[in-house]
Amino acid sequence: MTTTATSAEELRHRMVEQLAREGALHSSEWRAAFDAVPRERFVHGFTRRTERGLVTYDQDDPGYLEAVYADDSLNTQYDEHGTATSSSSQPTVMAHMVEALAPASDTLPVLDLGTGPGYNAALLSHRYGSARVVSRDVDPALVSAADDHLAAAGYAPTLSVGDGAEGCPDHAPYGALIATYGTGRIPDAWRAQVARGGNIVAALGYGLISLTIGEHARATGHFLPILAAFMKARTGPDVAPTPARGYAGTLATAEGHTREIELPAKPDERMPSFLGSLAHPDVLDLSMLIEGQTRYGLIHPNTRSWARITPNTDGTARLDHGGPRNLWTERAPLLEAWRAAGGPNADAYRLTVHPDGTHELHLGEQTWPLPS
Ligand SMILES: C[S@@+](CC[C@H](N)C(=O)[O-])C[C@H]1O[C@@H](n2cnc3c(N)ncnc32)[C@H](O)[C@@H]1O
Repeated sequence: MTTTATSAEELRHRMVEQLAREGALHSSEWRAAFDAVPRERFVHGFTRRTERGLVTYDQDDPGYLEAVYADDSLNTQYDEHGTATSSSSQPTVMAHMVEALAPASDTLPVLDLGTGPGYNAALLSHRYGSARVVSRDVDPALVSAADDHLAAAGYAPTLSVGDGAEGCPDHAPYGALIATYGTGRIPDAWRAQVARGGNIVAALGYGLISLTIGEHARATGHFLPILAAFMKARTGPDVAPTPARGYAGTLATAEGHTREIELPAKPDERMPSFLGSLAHPDVLDLSMLIEGQTRYGLIHPNTRSWARITPNTDGTARLDHGGPRNLWTERAPLLEAWRAAGGPNADAYRLTVHPDGTHELHLGEQTWPLPS
């Protein structure tokens, strides 16, 4: 069969089979939703990362439908610095997240934060009915486009423009909440607006967390087994966080205090990055190749605190740091405990968000407060 003869339905079905085979989709309800919602209605033009680098697709391009149903995130909007500001998230990640949703009741609405092109709002509408879905994005142009996409696909959830950090008070309480942009901490409004017994599924740092709301809006839960790098929260449609690479020059040459340290793990590897993103939601991490040698940089722009780690070959490293916070000393205990526990996966970690908003991370019997 040639690729041009392969219909959208067939490609979609193949994607669903793959998601099920790999364990991302396991319930018949979510399988049916992914099988029914035509992703091509939500992404008319996009950029996708391939082996050949970034490739841009339009509806008329050969390979467009195959790209739509490849299990990839599809970037649909960029800011003037070339940073992606909206996308259709990777189906595997969406599947893991929606499967984790456990609404408190069959009648309360479900809140979807980070509408983007509207594909996830459509999946939720298929599963729960449009009348039970409220979806909000900070960017009015995206909400308007999502409205068109959703209507074309036959769905009509309630859409709202605003900062998802406030939840969406107009339609609360919610049975459950899903947020598909990266947040560093769980905003108080989310816990306040989800009914007791319902849950929040969100991208917290590089982790995906499922938190059940208990008494006094205390939220407890665990991380899902996969990690994902979602685009970070924006506070407005024209505000994009400065990317880490913007600080590479400063970090490569900064001079401060110096000492030798034990390096429990390379900070840019999968699990250390996850733990770093939890410990340091407002610290930017980057890896630099300087004179053929990898160095790791951490920078907290607000306090101008920084750290540069130059690994030696024997498991030690040279630490250079400056500013009021010692970022490495703050982060190292999490990495040391992770290594001492044999390098567990993300789903070994649990999180509590207390009524006062403080966050605690748990691994087995150990607990670490996460700085606010
Ligand atoms: C990865 S996209 C969401 C993908 C989408 N849910 C889908 O159907 O695939 C992230 C979206 O979050 C939005 N966003 C970022 N910060 C936000 C905020 N503070 N409040 C609401 N939406 C936000 C962005 O505008 C972007 O559209």
